Amino acid sequence: MSIVQIVLLQKSRGARCASLVLTGYLLGSEDYYSHDRCVLIKTKNITRCALDFRDGEEVATGFKNVYSTNLFTERAIDLIANHRAEKPLFLYLAFQSVHEPLEVPEAYMKPYSSIKDVKRRHYAGMVTLMDEAVGNLTDALKRYGLWDNTILVFSTDNGGQTLAGGNNWPLRGRKWTLWEGGVRGVGFVASPLLKQKGVESHELIHISDWLPTLVHLAGGHTNGTKPLDGFDVWKTISEGRPSPRVELLHNIDPLFVDDFPCLGIDNRTTLPQSKSSPWDDTLFNISMHAAIRHGKWKLLTGYPGCSHWFPPPSLFNESKIQSPDPPTKRLWLFNIVRDPEEKNDLSEKYPHVVEKLLSRLQYYYKRSVPVFYPDEDPHCDPAATGAWGPWA
Ligand SMILES: *[C@@H]1O[C@H](CO)[C@@H](O)[C@H](O)[C@H]1NC(C)=O
Ligand SMILES: *[C@@H]1O[C@H](CO)[C@@H](O)[C@H](O)[C@H]1NC(C)=O
Ligand SMILES: *[C@@H]1O[C@H](CO)[C@@H](O)[C@H](O)[C@H]1NC(C)=O
Ligand SMILES: *[C@@H]1O[C@H](CO)[C@@H](O)[C@H](O)[C@H]1NC(C)=O
Ligand SMILES: *[C@@H]1O[C@H](CO)[C@@H](O)[C@H](O)[C@H]1NC(C)=O
Ligand SMILES: *[C@@H]1O[C@H](CO)[C@@H](O)[C@H](O)[C@H]1NC(C)=O
Repeated sequence: MSIVQIVLLQKSRGARCASLVLTGYLLGSEDYYSHDRCVLIKTKNITRCALDFRDGEEVATGFKNVYSTNLFTERAIDLIANHRAEKPLFLYLAFQSVHEPLEVPEAYMKPYSSIKDVKRRHYAGMVTLMDEAVGNLTDALKRYGLWDNTILVFSTDNGGQTLAGGNNWPLRGRKWTLWEGGVRGVGFVASPLLKQKGVESHELIHISDWLPTLVHLAGGHTNGTKPLDGFDVWKTISEGRPSPRVELLHNIDPLFVDDFPCLGIDNRTTLPQSKSSPWDDTLFNISMHAAIRHGKWKLLTGYPGCSHWFPPPSLFNESKIQSPDPPTKRLWLFNIVRDPEEKNDLSEKYPHVVEKLLSRLQYYYKRSVPVFYPDEDPHCDPAATGAWGPWA
């Protein structure tokens, strides 16, 4: 688990939308206590550490040593408490919880003294604190009479980072990879408005589906927008209907770099350009880091990222189960419904499926904007202000 996103939605009864309040950090992650963030500004060859915390538009200096999950929870409860019931409330909380750096008040680790792995112990404590935060939020919604008209969406944004206490067993890979351990996000929806409760969904849903789903739930519409990638999946969630989504592009990134240590595998950025696969020079450049899902099928090409399985420390006396694939392998096809652990490559058995999915990848690639990772603008340096923020 990593960034936690909680969306609380009050179904609209015709009124216009509520205000947007920002509390928190602008960069991708933060220190839970200091709220500082260190970033290497390559163009200046310096690593700058500065505060990254805001209350609304203003830099907030008064929260040193306050654990951020508690802070965000309190702020959300304030909003709930001061909310006038006739106006719809849309509360979107996206904050890191159960994410590096592994920090949590000592008391939350106490129940886990039996866990030997120190990262895992911190991780367990952080999950407990997060669980308490969600409990506090739902209690507040009930206390202030909002719960009956609330849809609570709880979701992670990617799989666990095994280098930081996370675990995706029995799924393969980890955060940053295109294996299921990296891309399969867990989540749930809780609401008195669900028609079907307590059920597990096996339907395909992508993060881009939340936009049309939530806009429609809030009484809005998406007519007149640019064509959206997402589908309204509310009937899938609420009634268990088949998902309107049958295909999901995980990624196509010709510039992908994985420089996290991968136990026995070199920190490869690109693969050797050996012309060894029958799929070379056909429909899609299979040296590119890419993956796509269509129905039960999943195709991966290039270097998907660290390819091991990582058992939880308690299960085996082994830190990893090594990938059996030769290091030059660049294409896999899995029946992901039957084989979510990605053990049994079916690409030789079903060449027509490979062909179809390669042409889908090429379809998306042809229409995509080129990947671009610009260097940091040296003017972003917060040396003068002491806080990260807009500079242009
Ligand atoms: C960046 O700074 C370090 C010392 O802080 C120095 O060793 C290194 O050579 C510098 N790199 C460049 C490209 O200037
Ligand atoms: C939840 O509420 C209790 C009681 O107010 C408080 O002590 C605790 O710190 C809260 N937890 C979080 C994570 O906000
Ligand atoms: C949006 O478009 C659909 C389909 O054309 C139409 O049925 C619906 O009334 C439109 N909604 C609004 C609010 O314009
Ligand atoms: C195929 O993709 C790889 C990895 O992105 C790249 O290095 C190579 O130049 C590409 N080959 C062609 C023919 O475009
Ligand atoms: C891989 O990268 C990590 C972190 O940058 C480094 O510690 C390790 O030595 C590298 N391993 C190899 C084989 O290059
Ligand atoms: C785990 O394996 C290592 C090396 O194989 C061994 O030294 C160690 O005693 C084992 N630990 C347990 C708890 O089995």
